[in-house]
Amino acid sequence: MNETVAPGGAALRARAEIDLAAVRANVEVLRAQAPGAAFMAVVKADGYGHGAAPCARAAVEAGATWLGTATPQEALALRAPGAGVPDDVRIMCWLWTPGGPWREAVEANLDVSLSGMWALDEVMEAARLAGRPARVQLKADTGLGRGGCQPGDDWTELVEGALRAEAAGLVRVTGLWSHFACADEPGHPSIAPQLTRFREMIAYAQGRGVDPEVRHIANSPATLTLPESHFDLVRPGIAMYGVSPSPEIGAPADLGLHPAMTLSASLALVKHVPAGHGVSYGHHYVTPGATTLGLVPLGYADGIPRHASSTGPVLVEGKWRTVAGRVAMDQFVVDLGGDEPGPGAEAVLFGPGDRGEPTAEDWAQAAGTIGYEIVTRIGSRVPRVYVNEGSGT
Ligand SMILES: Cc1ncc(COP(=O)(O)O)c(C=O)c1O
Repeated sequence: MNETVAPGGAALRARAEIDLAAVRANVEVLRAQAPGAAFMAVVKADGYGHGAAPCARAAVEAGATWLGTATPQEALALRAPGAGVPDDVRIMCWLWTPGGPWREAVEANLDVSLSGMWALDEVMEAARLAGRPARVQLKADTGLGRGGCQPGDDWTELVEGALRAEAAGLVRVTGLWSHFACADEPGHPSIAPQLTRFREMIAYAQGRGVDPEVRHIANSPATLTLPESHFDLVRPGIAMYGVSPSPEIGAPADLGLHPAMTLSASLALVKHVPAGHGVSYGHHYVTPGATTLGLVPLGYADGIPRHASSTGPVLVEGKWRTVAGRVAMDQFVVDLGGDEPGPGAEAVLFGPGDRGEPTAEDWAQAAGTIGYEIVTRIGSRVPRVYVNEGSGT
């Protein structure tokens, strides 16, 4: 769980400000893209680093009726009274391992995903112990080649087993679902075959008598670009935080999205150094002339990618600076080119870009990764500061 602090608290080494109005607005934008579908806000991995419970509440305020997580522990935490998530919001989790907290999940009225017979056996036993049916969603591997049940005999066995469990009063099959491999690459040749296979696997299950509440496959890029994939529910994650799924889909502003996280730090030190001065471990940066250096008190322990050494952009007093040399565990240095901001001056690593600061997409490019990783990896040592919380929170 991330440390959280109230706005206006004591001066902070660093902070990740989370604009919950942006989350609400993004959910509204995405819902407008899929007007016929219910909305599952994906808040796994602590809301992609933004804080699961505050973002879940914001999404619900903006019309989400479902929440999605990877692990059952993440889902159970959202059912805890302190999370402030209304009881009638459905919560689904999909990443199970044998011996997981099936009984707690059944008792907490979670929707649990099943990809194979071992999971059906475990959830049936949990339902017996809990004395109530489990809400289960059958996951089809329509081509991602990761989780999910293979089409053909495996799917037949899982569907028939689930129907027997339903007849015995142990489960209710609430959903049929899948996940895309390449929706972030519009026009990718895997997209149409995945949709076809999904329709076939749904048709088989429904033909045998499964009567799901929801059928779903659309992540953020599919919600934004593939209306034919919306079915009964869309399941966006990254876009609700205002980060683009990929440069090919567009920048956040092109998509009507507003980045919710601004990561900044207070300069810990500003000092003059002569020309030829090596900077940070390995001396991969050597000052080209006499200059000033600013010490940014964030490092790879805080989730700043070491791969952004010598490339990551930072806004200091209205100017873009670049990480000088290596990102260390707790700190890195920027060459301020002779400018002399005072210690404590704000260094903005990324944000919406409204003030001219870099974005998460800029950091992704600098570090050779994706925006998802940039925001999700920001560590628990960085306090989250929430702004624009809604009236219901
Ligand atoms: C199963 C599943 N559904 C939905 C999502 C949301 O995807 P995105 O963040 O691309 O919207 C994810 C995230 O990876 C996922 O694993």
